Amino acid sequence: MDSVDVEHCRNTAVKLARTAGEVIKNAWSKKKSIQTKLSQVDLVTETDVEVEKLLRSGFKEIYPDHRFIGEESSSAGEETQFSDEPTWIIDPVDGTMNFVHSFPYVAISIALTVNKEVVVGVVYNPILDQMYTAVKEKGAFLNDTSIHVTSKQELSDALLALEVGSGRDEKKMESVFTNLKTFIPICHGIRSMGSAALNMCHVASGGVDAYFESGIHCWDMAAGDIIIREAGGVVLHPSGGPFDLMARGVLCASSQKLAVSVSEKVNYINYERD
Ligand code: IPD
Repeated sequence: MDSVDVEHCRNTAVKLARTAGEVIKNAWSKKKSIQTKLSQVDLVTETDVEVEKLLRSGFKEIYPDHRFIGEESSSAGEETQFSDEPTWIIDPVDGTMNFVHSFPYVAISIALTVNKEVVVGVVYNPILDQMYTAVKEKGAFLNDTSIHVTSKQELSDALLALEVGSGRDEKKMESVFTNLKTFIPICHGIRSMGSAALNMCHVASGGVDAYFESGIHCWDMAAGDIIIREAGGVVLHPSGGPFDLMARGVLCASSQKLAVSVSEKVNYINYERD
């Protein structure tokens, strides 16, 4: 990590996220070309691919030795190689379904890992012009304002976020319905933003108190991980064990007590690792 200037990396990521944001905004009201990936609701558009290429070449030019893991490169068959080397983990359009429907919750999610730890996180919603950033041990910000999780401890007065995700198989559906049945009667309310990265940023900035999902990938949650931790929150695996970027699940909350209460009740699925 000695050779990595994390502030410089954060500034580069912010700049590239703004450029990528222009691509998303330009495509926003135009007809989108849509293809499906692993299910009928797992979508990719030409904008996802264009933004990933833009980010990848942008980072490559400035940091030629850094590695890269991107949603669309992985979907196109590139093997995920996660090592101790500085690695950019990117979701070019988190919330592709929202993008397709012009529902204004889409984000470019960019994280830098060093020694397998996330040290920089940038999540940018270009439609609402909301830039969430965090650098290890330097706090978390929404635009230029410092953000913090709420102090909620009890499930009974917590607002939870969860997602249906992009699978519709029986096991997944059963898990989602079980969680709705479990949590609706015992918490304040349930929300679903359609973007894992933005759900995590809303935990970080106090809009919701906890969020969980299984089946997501490292690019959906890497930037959110550091943004929540730097905002004073807790990030775990849905089992209640330590967070593992490649383990396809996240449970994050405003406090350890709330995170444990959710983990004791949540139904999650163990997916094949990234
Ligand atoms: C999706 C979003 C969504 C989550 C899905 C993800 P994508 O990412 O984060 O909120 O429920 O599991 O796949 O495909 O829009 O980048």
